[in-house]
Amino acid sequence: MESGQEGQQLQLRNLTDQDLIASEHFWTEELGFDMARNHMRRWHLVDPEGFFGIFLGDTLIATGAAVKQTSELFFIGSIGVRESHRGKGLCRQIINRLFERCPEGTFALFAVPECIQMYRKLGFEIVDNGTAYVYGGRAATLPSDNIKSAFRFEVVDSNKPELVRRLIEYDARLHGFERPIGTTLIDDDDGSTVVCSMEGSIVGFVRIASSKRDGGAFIGPLYADYSEVAYLLLEDILVRNRAQAEISVSIFVSSRGGFLAEKLKLELRDDYPKCCTNPDRIPTMEVDKIFAFDSTDFAIC
Ligand SMILES: CC(C)(COP(=O)(O)OP(=O)(O)OC[C@H]1O[C@@H](n2cnc3c(N)ncnc32)[C@H](O)[C@@H]1OP(=O)(O)O)[C@@H](O)C(=O)NCCC(=O)NCCS
Repeated sequence: MESGQEGQQLQLRNLTDQDLIASEHFWTEELGFDMARNHMRRWHLVDPEGFFGIFLGDTLIATGAAVKQTSELFFIGSIGVRESHRGKGLCRQIINRLFERCPEGTFALFAVPECIQMYRKLGFEIVDNGTAYVYGGRAATLPSDNIKSAFRFEVVDSNKPELVRRLIEYDARLHGFERPIGTTLIDDDDGSTVVCSMEGSIVGFVRIASSKRDGGAFIGPLYADYSEVAYLLLEDILVRNRAQAEISVSIFVSSRGGFLAEKLKLELRDDYPKCCTNPDRIPTMEVDKIFAFDSTDFAIC
């Protein structure tokens, strides 16, 4: 790879778990994006071979990851280059490296609006109905503590293997393929996941994690059979984690989930369209049941 400043060599290589602190620091401090506390670690555990960085000497100056979802489907996240090194083809080099893992594969991502033209140049197309609406801030309205409901709400953890099994099945049905949610949602020591059941069947679930920036609430994914259940799940998890919710709430809602953010009176900050390299090969999801995405990085929903 070409030389950087002061003759130091630029090196593109896989990111190990020791590199994750530098990578999280690069994203939150240098590029200014917030993320859930263990977000990068959770997805790195799923697919460590998918994470790359460019180093100038020992300093990380660019990152990119494509996490394997199925044998031919990858979800890209963390595409970023230090400001002083932009416009020199580093992003293109990382994306090409990600594609090398599976040249015939489908690669998807949520694009920040300023990058859509760039992703088009790199072979991506916008997917209809896939936009993530980024909401956040101090919630002006939080639910009261005495919610009454005919549904059953239960925190799920690895001590409830039968519930975890049913949750994985439910998630896979709505999502179009099975995800490693044991690693990404259940075994994470930060945050918790609540399942809603009716007459013994799961009808929705939601996850809360904490923001790296201020310890506030990161909500998502939120999947539910009905919008009423989606709202009750949101209420339930906010009431259980009120101290965190009072700091701030962040949520990436689908076109279906905007009412959830509006009920809390959160601020709409951005919209990130889903883009992908082979849109006709994306698995079919029950999009009307997907109210909030896990994140806009690494997870396809
Ligand atoms: C987006 C970003 C990663 C681009 O990195 P970069 O190293 O400057 O990009 P490259 O030099 O490899 O550019 C690749 C191609 O895209 C084009 N391009 C880059 N940024 C572009 C933009 N904002 N709009 C249109 N085209 C753009 C380049 O001209 C180049 O095309 P070419 O090879 O035909 O000349 C960088 O600007 C960045 O880190 N932004 C902040 C973080 C961010 O928003 N990440 C995206 C999350 S989805």
